[in-house]
Amino acid sequence: MTYPQRRPRRLRTTAAMRRLVREVRPQPAQLVLPVFVREGLQGSRPIESLPGVSQHGLDALPDLVDEAVAAGVGGIMLFAIPEVRDSTGSQACAADGILNRAIERAAATASGRLVVMADLCLDEFTDHGHCGILTAEGAVDNDATLAVYAQMGVAQARAGADVLGLSGMMDGQVQAVRAALDAEGLVDTSILAYSAKYASAAYGPFRDAVESQLDGDRKTYQMDPANRREGLVEASLDETEGADFLMVKPALPYLDVLADVAQASAVPVAAYHVSGEYSQIEAAAERGWIDRRTAHLEAITSIVRAGGDIVLTYAALDAAQWLKEDS
Ligand code: PBG
Repeated sequence: MTYPQRRPRRLRTTAAMRRLVREVRPQPAQLVLPVFVREGLQGSRPIESLPGVSQHGLDALPDLVDEAVAAGVGGIMLFAIPEVRDSTGSQACAADGILNRAIERAAATASGRLVVMADLCLDEFTDHGHCGILTAEGAVDNDATLAVYAQMGVAQARAGADVLGLSGMMDGQVQAVRAALDAEGLVDTSILAYSAKYASAAYGPFRDAVESQLDGDRKTYQMDPANRREGLVEASLDETEGADFLMVKPALPYLDVLADVAQASAVPVAAYHVSGEYSQIEAAAERGWIDRRTAHLEAITSIVRAGGDIVLTYAALDAAQWLKEDS
């Protein structure tokens, strides 16, 4: 009988030893909580396909921001559901549109205690549900959409957003929004580019959450799940165009892309553990098939291990608490 010369198990013998040799230690400050604000709603209303997540009325937003601050999370990402949608998504640019009012309210409450981010995309605001405006033939018109994104970005920055989350996957969107912000003197507003955003099945519950009108798919602008190298092309274009942060989305199915982007990027990289990834854990946990806490922490840890500096997760409030308990 020969015995092993090397015994990696020695470093796993006790909880104290495992804690000592742990390679990554996610912190609450790295987490960002996505928040849904619904125009006309009072209080909060649970989203069936996202257990534990609700739509909030403007009136409920300050308490939620305070809760996020108390939990120690680094930021919130605001999405909004307007009462009226039209072909150009005009409520997105209106100063009194629901998203811009939500930004104002959140920024006033946060008062610098966390980073207020806002989704910059038209899908919540268009009656056809696409992320841009359409040509007469019904195709998503890249360059016409850029002009609307530029206006939307200025409106969001004026409302007080710290970071604009450009999630529409139009070519040139970072450059267009940056130029519009700079022309208005809004030089301190940052841009987080959803650089490698894949056309994923995992956005299903989100589309419920925002009452999406989309009929069809987003495959002409979101990326093909088969393409890894292209993620780097998108990321490097966004960095060159002036993005302050890059993002890969969804997270766990694309950790290879995240690792590539994190290695190549000179700016912070975020990953979005999206609605379907979250709901898979929640649904299995409800049935007792998986441990909720362990599964969420494993997801967050894996994203950070792959190179993510920032993690967007619907479990941010609970996870922040768990991370504090575990540290
Ligand atoms: C588009 C947007 C989507 C998500 C974030 N921004 C939906 C889509 O592309 O269809 C999905 C996030 C999630 O699933 O959690 N504005």
